[in-house]
Amino acid sequence: MMDRYAVIGRPVAHSLSPRIHAAFAAGTGHTLSYNKIHAENFAAAADEFFAAGGQGLNVTVPFKADAWRWVDRHDETAAGCGAVNTIVLRDGRRCGGNTDGIGLVRDLTENLHWPLRGARTLILGAGGAVQGIVPALQRAGAADLTIANRTRSKAVRLAHQFGIAAGGLDDPKGQWDLVLNGTAAGLAGEGALVAPAVVAGANCYDLFYAADAKTPFCRWAAANGARAVSDGLGMLVEQAAEAFFLWRNVRPSTASVLDQLRQGA
Ligand code: ATR
Repeated sequence: MMDRYAVIGRPVAHSLSPRIHAAFAAGTGHTLSYNKIHAENFAAAADEFFAAGGQGLNVTVPFKADAWRWVDRHDETAAGCGAVNTIVLRDGRRCGGNTDGIGLVRDLTENLHWPLRGARTLILGAGGAVQGIVPALQRAGAADLTIANRTRSKAVRLAHQFGIAAGGLDDPKGQWDLVLNGTAAGLAGEGALVAPAVVAGANCYDLFYAADAKTPFCRWAAANGARAVSDGLGMLVEQAAEAFFLWRNVRPSTASVLDQLRQGA
């Protein structure tokens, strides 16, 4: 029987992960299947998947914290962050990892060539999208790492967990080298989250993506003096590559897959 993998979420219908993993499998000569699971209850769906012989799961919104609690143990990428996006079977035990941060850092540094070490970095938002990326940014040497969120108390709680600074969306002052949008505001089509001065001269990255690469946050940042902007499609592909590596012990190449997705192929 073919090794089986899946992405589990709600909603999950529009997930690009099956296409990405099919391309990785083709590129590495691996034979596997990769499906989408729309779940109401994470634990029940994950139990059923592994009981039926599944080999690994990707976990997306809104289940990353549920997955963190469900696994038997965490690898070093997930241990400190409270969110799991990749589950691997190791000696019959469920091991949780988080490849979001590694995926983000790879996209920033290797694909976009944006400097990260020493870059003064502001993160907008304090939800599930942000939780998984902070440790990787810390390891990569981001400076003055600060979380700003509409609900200030959520930013404070999350920042405390990682020993970094926090504030409300009105608080960030001064100049930033890198501004990351992890708020769901962009998804609703609203662009302005913070004062324009916050993004002026900064590299601005949206953790979300759009078919034409121009998310509302990217458009707004570009119109307000950002040095460069990018959506998060590269992060999606890179986090998937790291998950593929955890499952298959081979690192797929990502550039052609990212090109294909960009071209809508
Ligand atoms: P999840 O935790 O699943 O990622 P979420 O709880 O909806 O999703 O959080 C998404 C993030 O987007 C939060 O930081 C949220 O801010 P609050 O903590 O204040 O709710 C932020 N967000 C959502 N809509 C927003 C808006 N219109 N303006 C600013 N921030 C917004």
